[in-house]
Amino acid sequence: MKKNLYINTIGCQMNVYDSEQIAKGLKTLQYKMTSSIEKADLIIVNTCAIREKAEQKVYSFLGRLAGLKRKKPALMIGVGGCVAQQEGKKILERVPHLDLVFGTNAIGRLPDIVKVIESKRCRIVDVEMSEQIEELNFVKQGHDRGKTTAFVTIMQGCDNYCTYCVVPYVRGRETSRDPENIVQEIRCLVESGVREVTLLGQNVNSYGKKEGLCTFPELLRRVSDTDGLLRIRFTTSHPKDLSENLIFAFQGLEKLCNHIHLPIQSGSNRVLKNMNRKYAREIYLEKVDKLRQTCPEISITSDIIVGFPGETKTDFEETLDLIQTVEFDGLFAFKYSDRPNAAAARFLNKISEQEKKERLQQVLDLQDRYTTKKNKALEGSIQSILVEGLSRKQNRMDKPSRHSDIQWTGRTSTNKIVNFNRINEDIARNDIVPGQIVNVRILKAFSHSLWGEPVSAKPISFGLRGDESYVA
Ligand code: 5AD
Ligand code: SF4
Repeated sequence: MKKNLYINTIGCQMNVYDSEQIAKGLKTLQYKMTSSIEKADLIIVNTCAIREKAEQKVYSFLGRLAGLKRKKPALMIGVGGCVAQQEGKKILERVPHLDLVFGTNAIGRLPDIVKVIESKRCRIVDVEMSEQIEELNFVKQGHDRGKTTAFVTIMQGCDNYCTYCVVPYVRGRETSRDPENIVQEIRCLVESGVREVTLLGQNVNSYGKKEGLCTFPELLRRVSDTDGLLRIRFTTSHPKDLSENLIFAFQGLEKLCNHIHLPIQSGSNRVLKNMNRKYAREIYLEKVDKLRQTCPEISITSDIIVGFPGETKTDFEETLDLIQTVEFDGLFAFKYSDRPNAAAARFLNKISEQEKKERLQQVLDLQDRYTTKKNKALEGSIQSILVEGLSRKQNRMDKPSRHSDIQWTGRTSTNKIVNFNRINEDIARNDIVPGQIVNVRILKAFSHSLWGEPVSAKPISFGLRGDESYVA
């Protein structure tokens, strides 16, 4: 009998990958993904503990499920991910309508756990951690057809202990996957139609070091040998481990996209030291220069935390100054929040909520200028876009729109979103499909996306239709 599975993924890309593995695992028990929460027989919330706000979202979502469970007592509800790992059975106590809590290392065991709950209707907690990466059989299933991009975890955990961060406590020690397993997984994904992979890890630059596996640039080279794969991305890079070899990979590996996410966190050396980041702003700026010398088109994005304990006005101004110096292509900025076990939770001189809010706004306003400036600079240029699908605005095939109204969406190599209409009838007849690379002239830049028109009458035909195999 077919059963419906609804997954709510909160937080980072790592969780998006984990949710995909959860779905693949539960497919073996005949669970099929649904986008309707009312139709679900099993609801999984895949949680994130990195910031307080993400954790609050988990409890408010779980609270809303109480009514659903009352109406449908057979409904099973599970919580996975970092909050589950961190809180364990405390969540079961706090949320009476919950059936299951499973940690970040329990995804491989999930089908067996769900089977037990289905038959015995008991409540289960599995937050056992392991130092070794468990290779999941179901990764070989590839993706459901139609997906162009995919995440692939190459390592788990983190050994860096930045003082604000909960990750080492909930995801455990840094452990890298065997390169052969990674390459095999990517081959399966490509066979199922994926054209771009993003390699995931908390600190991909230190991939393989502990285990004596190959280096990260070598892994990139091996991945880029995959036939049919068009693009490779990776995230996240720790500035202290960004090697010259990795910088050169942007020049040497054609499939490697021109984008790096390189979190700086603060522009003040004093704050960086208190954060235990192990680099100074000068080193960061040198690496940015080197990246731009090696690959002038590269786009650089970053993360900033405002209001770290003890951050003075002068420290904060140094962060603003750094943003002005680098001119990032994009920036994620966060108000500092205390996390359980993280050292900074015990630091004195906490910054008030109001002050954090004001500093955050200043960062966002400043960055907006640079994001817009960088996007505007692309107006008139022709960019290669990997088509991902229909843009969200019109992502409704059930609501017919005029041919020329349909908007495709994809990304530049530099990770900027581009939407474009099928305005050219020749191209419309040739039918653009997800997975194709299309040359698009950028007509207009907005603050978070670009808009353009396709210019290749015959787009480079890498796309897959139905079960056709890949033809270069
Ligand atoms: N408070 C605020 N932001 C945080 N981040 C990590 N921990 C915290 C915290 N305690 C941010 C960092 C990191 C991103 C994923 O989340 O900027 O790079
Ligand atoms: Fe957290 Fe620092 Fe590890 Fe990133 S490098 S996951 S911020 S401890």
